[in-house]
Amino acid sequence: AIEQTLSIIKPNAVAKNAIGAILGRFEAAGLRIVAARMLHMSKEQASAFYGIHQGKPFFDELVAFMTSGPVMVQVLEGEDAVAKNRDIMGATNPANAAPGTIRADFADSFTENAAHGSDAADTAAVEIAFFFPEGVCPRTR
Ligand code: CMP
Repeated sequence: AIEQTLSIIKPNAVAKNAIGAILGRFEAAGLRIVAARMLHMSKEQASAFYGIHQGKPFFDELVAFMTSGPVMVQVLEGEDAVAKNRDIMGATNPANAAPGTIRADFADSFTENAAHGSDAADTAAVEIAFFFPEGVCPRTR
């Protein structure tokens, strides 16, 4: 089915000047960018976005990292977009990320793993609404 998923290019990948390289991988895989914005998240925003991880041992480090610099946030649309994006990103822990994936090529650590992607269609809807409350571009094709 045609799905939408939320993707974040994290501060370490933005600092590496890898926005274009990463967006290019999504497009090359047939995913369309139907919304995008660049922002420097506040501590409150990052804590709310990752609210499900509150209390976990890595939470404070994650929020500190995600607020350390600008991120690029986009909505990707296409056939099986949630799973396709996760395939392109590779495993969350870059130590387990397959060669050629975004995390294998651009991650620096488990926390600084270059990209975030929604893990399911229902969480994608919540995450898309978090960053794009006004909605995304209507389909014109
Ligand atoms: P992300 O897809 O952004 O979702 C939550 C993030 O928390 C995850 O990628 C990792 O960057 C980070 N994370 C999850 N588990 C751990 C862990 N055990 N140690 C460090 N960071 C983690």
